[in-house]
Amino acid sequence: VILKKQKNPIGGYFELELNSHRNKLDKWGVAYQSARASLYALIKQKKCERIWLPKYICGCVIPPIESLDIEILKYDIDLDFRIKSKIPLRDTDLLLYVNYFGICDLQEEELISEYTADQIIFDHSQAFYSRPKDVAATIFSPRKFFGLPDGGFLYTNTVIEDEYEVDTDSIERSKFLLTRLSSGAEAGYNEFKIADESLNDFYPKKMSTLTRKLLSSVDIDSVKTQRNINFNYLHSRLKKINELVIPNNINAPLCYPLLIRLDGLRDFLIKNKLFIAKYWPDVMESVDSGSVEDILVNNLLAIPCDQRYQEKDMNDIIDLIFIGINEIKHNNI
Ligand SMILES: Cc1ncc(COP(=O)(O)O)c(C=O)c1O
Repeated sequence: VILKKQKNPIGGYFELELNSHRNKLDKWGVAYQSARASLYALIKQKKCERIWLPKYICGCVIPPIESLDIEILKYDIDLDFRIKSKIPLRDTDLLLYVNYFGICDLQEEELISEYTADQIIFDHSQAFYSRPKDVAATIFSPRKFFGLPDGGFLYTNTVIEDEYEVDTDSIERSKFLLTRLSSGAEAGYNEFKIADESLNDFYPKKMSTLTRKLLSSVDIDSVKTQRNINFNYLHSRLKKINELVIPNNINAPLCYPLLIRLDGLRDFLIKNKLFIAKYWPDVMESVDSGSVEDILVNNLLAIPCDQRYQEKDMNDIIDLIFIGINEIKHNNI
């Protein structure tokens, strides 16, 4: 007799062993394969006519919007990440603002007091730990904060159609996670690029079972603590050379953004194996040289402060930065 009750097999071979933190993913909203897909799902439902985007943004958010035939208007920001001049927002417009590097909660509060909250989208792709505010929507990209193959969340009070199928591509996208673990960063980079590019397909799919299980197993609170510790330590040692104003209260940011106008420092750091991402080179195609965006693209160094690292690693980074500065200044004399 076969009993229907016992659905899952017991015993046999093992799966990848994960912690069981059992995070409830629903608190970040509806789960998709990427932040881009979340944005598409939202805008499709909102049916706006135009959307305002900062010039300083990842180019990957553009195709999903264009595919929905929505007019894109661009705005400037200042070096303090505030919108430069008042936006003439029409009733049928949306305004998207990026919580840059996860340090712009205050700027978000200001925007809510200035514009209609229901027309604002906050992009928390770089601010996973900043709580969503009472606006039209907040999007998240957890893979920027944890070792995940993909993932995106849409936190919104708009009712979203539940028409999308479940993503089954995460296994294919996961190879870089195992390669980095076993053979190091350089070995896995190509696989990471391939996985990353596969997310250009923005048509929404529900977050895969694999990504859900991986994210459920992350120790969200201890990651937060370690990021804050590392960030504050970097700031205590680097604030004297950082042109950016960093807020006192932070929420486990993406990285420590260090703005220092010294050509060659990024290359020096990369040559010495400090891998720092450049946000976002394609912005340069449409901004003037000397503009705020130019300065941010070319002179902002995204220093890692994530949960893999401790104070010793932060000291190594700081030493390297000061050695680099001295070397470049010395060679320029
Ligand atoms: C500000 C910003 N928004 C959106 C995205 C897109 O995130 P995802 O790769 O999850 O689609 C990125 C990252 O690439 C980003 O930096």
